[in-house]
Amino acid sequence: MSKIQELHSKIAAAKLGGGQARIDSQHKKGKLTARERLQLLLDEGSFEEIGMLVHNRNKGLTTEQEQFPGDGVVTGYGTVNGRLVYVFSQDFTVYGGSLSEPHARKICRIMDLAMENGAPLIGLNDSGGARIQEGVVSLAGYADIFYRNTRASGVIPQISAIMGPCAGGAVYSPAITDFILMVENTSYMFVTGPNVVKTVTHEEVTSEALGGAHTHATKSGVTHFACSNEVECIQRIRDLLSYMPQNCEDTAPVYPYEGGSESRPALNAMIPENPNQPYDMKEVIAELTDAGSFLEVHKDFADNIIVGFARIAGRSIGIVANQPAVLAGVLDIHASVKGARFTRFCDAFNVPLLVLVDVPGFLPGTDQEWNGIITNGAKLLFALSEATVPKITVTTRKAYGGAYCVMNSKHIGADLNFAFPQAEIAVMGPKGAVEIIYKKEIDASPEPETRMNELVADYTERFANPYLAAEKGYIDEVVMPEETREKLIKGYKMLENKVVNVPRKKHGNIPL
Ligand code: COA
Repeated sequence: MSKIQELHSKIAAAKLGGGQARIDSQHKKGKLTARERLQLLLDEGSFEEIGMLVHNRNKGLTTEQEQFPGDGVVTGYGTVNGRLVYVFSQDFTVYGGSLSEPHARKICRIMDLAMENGAPLIGLNDSGGARIQEGVVSLAGYADIFYRNTRASGVIPQISAIMGPCAGGAVYSPAITDFILMVENTSYMFVTGPNVVKTVTHEEVTSEALGGAHTHATKSGVTHFACSNEVECIQRIRDLLSYMPQNCEDTAPVYPYEGGSESRPALNAMIPENPNQPYDMKEVIAELTDAGSFLEVHKDFADNIIVGFARIAGRSIGIVANQPAVLAGVLDIHASVKGARFTRFCDAFNVPLLVLVDVPGFLPGTDQEWNGIITNGAKLLFALSEATVPKITVTTRKAYGGAYCVMNSKHIGADLNFAFPQAEIAVMGPKGAVEIIYKKEIDASPEPETRMNELVADYTERFANPYLAAEKGYIDEVVMPEETREKLIKGYKMLENKVVNVPRKKHGNIPL
């Protein structure tokens, strides 16, 4: 065999992974192969592979049929919409994509390159966990990856797609990254599988119910996106990247924007007259942002708060918004954590924030108190206070009590605070307030209900408005709703070069 032929045959063997039979079995499960996934993810012809011929460690011990160049992971770099990214894609056809020492070394090499060159890291996970034949060296490989994930956090964006099994210690690499995507019915993540669960807690549960995409998208919030198939999942990664910069020193790409009338008259009628009537904050978002640009994150988890990326006049922003259509937009533990985590991503990567406020307060109750609404609510407060990116707030309706302070108030560093004329910025809602401060008077009244209604009307007139806050300068402007989009475009432009000098410290101590 000539040297050239020898190389051809080595490349062909590497591209075949664990062989045609295992590729067919992968396809039968509705899954693509590691290389097919990369082909979909990266711009055509842009992929350059690194470490194709890396071999499994126990080569001398294995038969010819068990030797697989590449060792269960395809690594390299390429572009997404012309922008550099580093990738690894685990190959389930080789030892179930399990992680050996060389497999881990290949991933670490890509991570180091991503860090040194300031570009996002994308991991496509499909693995049976630690390579059982290798023992502790494979565990060491995991720890090497976790360490790099942690060091890279806040330096380069890290995205993990789960496209098959991801169990045991393996879950902690994705968990440290910025965004997790899962594929419905073919992927699952758990620390211990159904058999161990049954032995330890006597619970009978399927893999799907324990750690499938739907479970993690709705119950645990571990995944940010549940995708119906792999093609959708990969497209979502490409979309997600379009809103973020390459690294923490960079800014997100600006998309061409035609301009035109920025007036959005539909906003004038969007907030119901009755303050207790719900409306959908997503309709407000659609009016304020560039058409079709909103990419919701964590859509099915804690939907009393909305988080996601959008563009305003072609520029990326991150939105944190109360959702009055769900639980009246109240803040609870999950909503606070969801909002805080997203805020920190935006701040780490120079994505300006837009906070839309319609919040009646924090959710009362033993469940919330005993599970730490104090500590968890503080996360959102801390994250928004700490953020130094341009921060604009629009209060569309209620901003009551402590939640007023938390939701990007002027006092915690918002740059611009707008309020709709329907805004009610007060310590609490009129009825609750009157019941407390006029309790004796109402009890003594011959017609308590009538007296109560009079007092509520009086309180509403005097306090349930944005003007007291505007008089103090806590609201910069009470805006006509239809003019809000234009105000935002101008506001973000004005804040484009914002610099904040933070006190010297090692790092803050966000209440975890
Ligand atoms: N180490 C080495 N090889 C592994 C492996 C591991 N951790 N996990 C799977 N494999 C191999 C299997 O031996 C099989 O090899 P083959 O193609 O030569 O037959 C191949 O990967 C596919 O595994 P299989 O069990 O047939 O696939 P499945 O889809 O039915 O099940 C898993 C997938 C992940 C549920 C199952 O393989 C499993 O439980 N693996 C072990 C998980 C584990 O305990 N990991 C170690 C601790 S983190």
